[in-house]
This record gives sequence, structure tokens and C-alpha cells, in this order.
Amino acid sequence: MARSVKKFYTGKVKTEWNRLIQDAYHKLELDTTLYFLKKYLPKKGLILDAGGGPGRYTIDLAKQGYDIILLDLTPANLEFAKKQIKKAKVQNKIKGVIEGSITDLSKFPNNTFDAVICLGGPLSHVLDKKKRDKAIFELIRVAKKGAPVAVSVIGRLAVLARAVKIFPEEIGLPHFKKYRDTGDYPGQFGFTASHFFLPEELKNLFAKKKVKILAMAGLEGIGSNLQEKVNQLAKNKKRWSAWLETHYKFCTHPAIIGISKHQLIICKKL
Ligand SMILES: C[S@@+](CC[C@H](N)C(=O)[O-])C[C@H]1O[C@@H](n2cnc3c(N)ncnc32)[C@H](O)[C@@H]1O
Repeated sequence: MARSVKKFYTGKVKTEWNRLIQDAYHKLELDTTLYFLKKYLPKKGLILDAGGGPGRYTIDLAKQGYDIILLDLTPANLEFAKKQIKKAKVQNKIKGVIEGSITDLSKFPNNTFDAVICLGGPLSHVLDKKKRDKAIFELIRVAKKGAPVAVSVIGRLAVLARAVKIFPEEIGLPHFKKYRDTGDYPGQFGFTASHFFLPEELKNLFAKKKVKILAMAGLEGIGSNLQEKVNQLAKNKKRWSAWLETHYKFCTHPAIIGISKHQLIICKKL
């Protein structure tokens, strides 16, 4: 399964690099994540960006003064990231660019990082339930005691809502029923193999570990799946500012976490 995920992302390096800044709608994922990182990250230290892809968060956090190790499954993303790191002139803050999987972080000892982030869905690409749990264990294991661990995944309810909008002909087909009922999407229908989470599922997986859950948020928020309307709204400065205020007011509401395309959980290792 990891092989097909790697193949998918190898063909999408530039798309992935631009994903979070392509429009106002996608920037909500980036900015809302950065908002919560700002709230919970320590002032300085070494961060593991696990599943960091082409390095959008790595570079942003390096610019903020953090030391970063970027790890990803897809070598093509890492090669691209190295060039972007150089371009951004933050090489001195990057302590490693490493090929690897979040399911096995054995190259790092326990309690290594001042924070661990795993954003934009790497955990959703671990299809095997036991390996998913192992990945969560690993992300927490390599964090220092007291360090924040921030993970965002793809939400199941948002994917179902998206089917109504974009793939109505798929509703009722076996693969639709499979991801509706289990969250598991086999991957041959336009996107790579993924597990789509319910918010309580994400919360329960972390709650079983030695952590304190600090926050959960729906990153696209109330506007999830309303890409065109949100982008239109962003053209009006005054309305957009009022919308952002509304977004941040409700993005932690359980119903909004549930309907969001990306769901973020931040916990503290005990
Ligand atoms: C949607 S991208 C997110 C990249 C980046 N974190 C961001 O938010 O821009 C998903 C990334 O997860 C990586 N990935 C998928 N499965 C992984 C695994 N088991 N271990 C590490 N990275 C993985 C992919 O190679 C891809 O770069």
C-alpha cells in the first residue's frame, strides 16, 4: 500500500507544494494549522515534520527560528524540499531531510523532539489499522515529555459530502459504501489509498495514549466543501475578515471538526 501512496505523491510534487497556497479555501488549512501551532509549540527547539512532503511547514517553521527534521515516504518530495530549503535560505535550521515512514521512527530515540507535527493527512495514508496505531505511538514516542504532537487527517464526513457535489454517480457503489462504513478507501478512483477519519475515532486513538489532548479543530471549518463560495468571499476584504473571525470562532466546535475536510488534533505527551 505504501508503494502506491509513494507513486501517487511522486507524480504530484509541484501540486503538493502549491496545495496549501493555491487559493483562500486551501489557505484556511495552512493558516488555521499555523494558528494552533503558534498557540502550542514551544518558543524554540527541534521539530520533527513527519510526512512533511515538499516542506511547506518545514520552511515556515524554520523561518520562525525552529530547527527541523523533515521526514517523508516519497523521495521526490524530499528532493524538491531540499531545493526549496536552499531557495528560502534556511539550510542552517534544517537538521535532516530523511526518507522514512511514520509507522517506524526507530532511527530516532525516545524523547528526541521538542515538538512533532504530522500534517495534511500522512496518517490517513496508513491503511492498516494496527500500523496506524503504531504510527501514533511512534509520533508520541519520539516527542519529549511535555512536548506537543500535532496531527491532521482527512475527515470522512467531508469526503461523503464531497461525493454529493462531485461524484454523485459513485454514491452506492461498493467502494463508496466501504469508505462510508469503515473509512477505508482503496485508492483506485482518483485519489490514493486513504483512511478517512470520524472525529471521535481520531480523538479515541490519541486518548488511549499517554497524552493530554489540548485541542481539536476543523481546518476548513464551516466553509468545508464550499471551495468556490469561500474563494469568492475572500475577494471582499471586509467580508473575508468577518468570515475569518467566524471561522476561528467555530473551528473547534465538535460539529465543525466533524464536517471538515482536515481535522487537527494537538496533544501534549505526559
Ligand atoms: C497531503 S501530503 C502532506 C504534506 C505536508 N505535510 C503538508 O501538509 O503540506 C501527504 C504526505 O504524506 C506522505 N506520506 C504518506 N504516507 C506516509 C508515511 N507512512 N510516512 C511518511 N510520510 C507519508 C506523502 O509522501 C506526502 O508527502
